[in-house]
Amino acid sequence: MHFLITAGPTREFLDPVRFLSNRSTGKMGFAIADAALRRGHTVDLIAGPVSLPSPPGLSSRIDILSARDLLKAVQDRLPACDVLIMCAAVADWRPKDVASTKLKKSEMNGTLELVRNPDILKTILPQKRLDKQLFVGFAAETGDPQMEGTRKLREKGLDLLVANDVSQPDVGFAVDTNRVLFLTSNQPPRPLPLMSKQQVGDEIIAWAEGHSASI
Ligand code: CTP
Repeated sequence: MHFLITAGPTREFLDPVRFLSNRSTGKMGFAIADAALRRGHTVDLIAGPVSLPSPPGLSSRIDILSARDLLKAVQDRLPACDVLIMCAAVADWRPKDVASTKLKKSEMNGTLELVRNPDILKTILPQKRLDKQLFVGFAAETGDPQMEGTRKLREKGLDLLVANDVSQPDVGFAVDTNRVLFLTSNQPPRPLPLMSKQQVGDEIIAWAEGHSASI
């Protein structure tokens, strides 16, 4: 199978030296890519700014910075893939204006005006080949992930939503372990125990392998 996997944060610049971003390190997305490669699949990896080496055997790695770069990279490669896994932590907002030179204190008034970034999954949903492609999304929540995860599963037209509670110390950003909940539209929620991100990656790829026959 051909996997398209996104990983890491996006950066939204306000001038050449400053940006808005988030705590994602890319570990989960890279672990999924590694799991897919170990299981013999073809993988294109789209990565935000992270300091991780590529897992050996990638078909391609595309490095992006902003949410809009990510959208374009996903749109370009979507037709070739069987499974899209959106693990990237996309910044929902970007500064309205981007200065071409470093902003001076005297040029700022203490208020930063933001505009919404596109929702990548919602934007590409009309391009999904419903009978041929699986879309997997993530939801990093602070608190019970089931309700928000279920909303995102439905609103984003996903086949699998992998939800986690990132307020726990052994889950989420920058750690090597994760405790996730698999949410689908036609099965009861499936909580997985605490495991390494490699093992979570294997579980996600195994899920996709098991469901590719049903599309
Ligand atoms: N996502 C996306 N485009 C965005 C933001 C998120 O495609 N602009 C994807 C993420 O990669 C993830 C899923 O949507 O697979 C859920 O992301 P999350 O940040 O948890 O949700 P949001 O849509 O940003 O919703 P909210 O701000 O209400 O939590």
